[in-house]
Amino acid sequence: MAERSPWFYLTTPIYYVNDVPHIGHAYTTIAADVLARTHRQMEEPVFFLTGTDEHGQKVWQSAEKHSLSPQLYVDRILPRFRDLWVRLGISNDDFVRTTQPRHVKGVSEVLARLREKGDLYEGAYEGWYCLPDERFWTDKDVVDGLCPECRRPVERISETNIFFRMSRYQEWLISWYESHPESIRPESRYNEIMGFLRKPLADLCISRPKSRVPWGIPIPFAPDYVTYVWFDALLNYVTVPWSLGATPGEGLDRLWPAVHIIGKDILTTHAVYWPIILAALDLPPPRLIFAHGWWTVDGEKMSKSRGNVVDPGALLDLFGTDPLRFYLLREGQFGHDVDFSLIGLINRINRDLANDLGNLLSRVAAMADRYFPGEGVSRPETPGSPELREAANTLLPEALARTQALEFHRALQTLWEFVAELNRTVDLRAPWVLAKDPERRGELSAVLYDLLEGLRLTALYLAPFLPETSGKILEALGVPAGISILSYREHGVFGLEKIYRVQETGSLFIKRDTLGNPLGEEGEGSRKKTRSDKTATATPEPAASGKERPSETEQEKPNKASEVSAPAPLIDYADFQKVRLATGIVREAEPVPKSKKLLKLSVDVGEPVPRTVVAGIAGSYRPEDLVGKTVVVVTNLAPATLMGVTSQGMLLAATTQDGVALLTVDGPAAPGNGIK
Ligand code: MSP
Repeated sequence: MAERSPWFYLTTPIYYVNDVPHIGHAYTTIAADVLARTHRQMEEPVFFLTGTDEHGQKVWQSAEKHSLSPQLYVDRILPRFRDLWVRLGISNDDFVRTTQPRHVKGVSEVLARLREKGDLYEGAYEGWYCLPDERFWTDKDVVDGLCPECRRPVERISETNIFFRMSRYQEWLISWYESHPESIRPESRYNEIMGFLRKPLADLCISRPKSRVPWGIPIPFAPDYVTYVWFDALLNYVTVPWSLGATPGEGLDRLWPAVHIIGKDILTTHAVYWPIILAALDLPPPRLIFAHGWWTVDGEKMSKSRGNVVDPGALLDLFGTDPLRFYLLREGQFGHDVDFSLIGLINRINRDLANDLGNLLSRVAAMADRYFPGEGVSRPETPGSPELREAANTLLPEALARTQALEFHRALQTLWEFVAELNRTVDLRAPWVLAKDPERRGELSAVLYDLLEGLRLTALYLAPFLPETSGKILEALGVPAGISILSYREHGVFGLEKIYRVQETGSLFIKRDTLGNPLGEEGEGSRKKTRSDKTATATPEPAASGKERPSETEQEKPNKASEVSAPAPLIDYADFQKVRLATGIVREAEPVPKSKKLLKLSVDVGEPVPRTVVAGIAGSYRPEDLVGKTVVVVTNLAPATLMGVTSQGMLLAATTQDGVALLTVDGPAAPGNGIK
């Protein structure tokens, strides 16, 4: 094998573009992002790739349903993923779409090369096919006519196709894994693959007849066929580096081999098909395949087909980026399944983030501001807290080692041991007591300096996990370096800063009640605050943080979302039925004169004459964007006159971060259809 590339090339799976992104997708991508940011802080050149899988039968069928060309359809739905990654602070270096010409070109070249090598042949296929998974199964895989993967019915199919001689490489792959057991992790997944490879490998069918699946990369030498979507998708990991540099040493050679982070559902394709495709192309297998566990809801895998997906967008609206990143990586062991719970997320925010870290920063900053205004807190001759320095020297490198090993929850646990050490130092050394004695001013300054340095180092080690928070901590401490240039080597030294001029600062995190609503309260005995009063004041002394913290065992208890009770009064179904809802199509839209908020719409609800509906949505929609839109209308609301216009109904809309978003229906609907 060639010498290992100096690059840290890291990938996520490319997600099916027509899926609704959920926290499972977010989980993989955030984990990869943490790893990418960590390696950047280790000063390694990093190339972090994610993207979307855009071909195949399902996409084609969805496009048909929307009466759009497949390309237009995927272009339209792509922002679901792209925008989510921006909101989650994902620092990918490139974003691949399998419909991009660079990828299509790479796949066509691979097909031609494999054909030349004699690795492809034409053959007849008869067997079972799972349409939703787009996978073939043999008789022994299929029990009761169901797909072994997704448990949905399979179809019998018989057709001629192009096959890839995978079986040729089986012995080679087994011996590769025998000598590289560390290349599939966790170990249980390695064992799973070795077990799989004990059975003879069937050749891989890499084509689909255009008559059945018209949306895919054409096979250059077989005009009636397109490329099987998985064969196409896996190749993204090499087509992108190829596209970045044409000359040897500049393109793929520079980056390869990659670290692939995937979910356990796609282990076989990555650990069996993929290294074999690479071997056929004379490329070494991936450096590491790490298959993490599933996010479940009440023990069931989260997926669109099960209808139990947790929407990361809604969680972001409620809690923001860093709390969600923290929860997903702190809650369970990477590699194992984890059950989602809203209460679990809220507990993490209130205890770990707001109490342990947020209060700590507020208290230390407030004390530095109060006791050393203007003059600042300077680096002392002798350490303010040798114990704290010792903890920094052991715990912080350990947290980094855990992150490098993809043990994210252990890394965060270790970082929080350091945060606990900082809180303990505040409590034990009680700077507010030292401040009362002018003779102990030097000691006061030294202790505060060590606490401020401890916070700076916390920000450094936390930056890959919580980039926004880390930036806020550094800003509060007055450290000029932005987080994008952080380096463990350069900035990881205790005693680096000469002087801290710190001002009292607001809260890093907002505490939540059991429903996720912001709580204004912070510290002991402070007043309750209103929703909009988000910034809690610092409470430097005596210790507020730490005291309310439950024991670690209590924190680890799984909490179920179902434990959260709804405060709203319950209504009978008969009450609900009183509200008449129907689909409507907006035919005309115009502003209501002299109103900034209102639009006057003419909505077809299947009656002989369209209704006039006045809606307070001008802040979020332009009239011309509404014409043709399918909306949900309350049709039996008593008419009301708004700014001189009588409204004969009401549109349903959700409140979003940016204003409102109209409710619509997922599929074609005629005007006036009832809503159940
Ligand atoms: N398009 C293929 C992958 C091709 S990669 C060359 C695909 N896409 S997917 O949209 O279904 O995404 C699968 C990935 O999403 C999983 O491997 C995992 O990373 C993530 N998750 C999807 N559901 C998940 C959970 N319920 N829990 C955790 N992660 C899961 O398969």
